[in-house]
Amino acid sequence: MYVCLCKGITDRQIKTAIDDGACSMGKLRKTLGVATQCGKCSASTRELLAESKAEA
Ligand code: FES
Repeated sequence: MYVCLCKGITDRQIKTAIDDGACSMGKLRKTLGVATQCGKCSASTRELLAESKAEA
């Protein structure tokens, strides 16, 4: 499922990046470019981040 339409980034790509060590919004932004345009995806990205932290 696409989370970031501006950059064409899926939830799977975000989860993989988190697993690979992108443990903050800043790092995800740098690694994937997520939430660097309209910003509409930042809430969902934050949720994915929170979910993966809860699982860890
Ligand atoms: Fe991610 Fe616009 S949907 S920056």
